[in-house]
Amino acid sequence: MNPLVMDRHSKGSPERPSDSELAALRAAAREATERAYGPYSGVHVGAALLTNGGRVFAGCNVENASYGLTVCAERNAVARAVAEGERDLRAILIDTNQPRGLAPCGACRQVLHEFAPELWVVLVRGDDLHLARLSDYLPDAFGPADLG
Ligand code: THU
Repeated sequence: MNPLVMDRHSKGSPERPSDSELAALRAAAREATERAYGPYSGVHVGAALLTNGGRVFAGCNVENASYGLTVCAERNAVARAVAEGERDLRAILIDTNQPRGLAPCGACRQVLHEFAPELWVVLVRGDDLHLARLSDYLPDAFGPADLG
């Protein structure tokens, strides 16, 4: 098998979140959106991560007057999970105050890939949820296996 393909699947493919898990993620992400600190862009984002052990960690975007120091919601959620000893990630749901919803930025895709190349990525689009794999958003990703 092509080693790049093997790498993509080396951590397995986490199970799709159930409807009740999606509802819990949605509630946690919405609460985080409400706490977002986004006075410069006006964009408020909340992200909720589900681990394979069933725990949920939420993060929001935190902007700064020195704009480049802004940290996205997804990376803040990852930091919270890792600090609690959780790296076995199954899904992330991304909520926002933007009516069209938003997909994770490139930097966040890369950070998520570090821990779960086949993570489920769930976007809130109005009343609908859109599910895809992180590998759909970041194909042929660079990752830990590339460092030998
Ligand atoms: N933002 C996120 O929190 N996540 C993303 O994936 C895209 C962008 C935030 C960062 C910044 O505070 C605001 O959205 C506008 O870029």
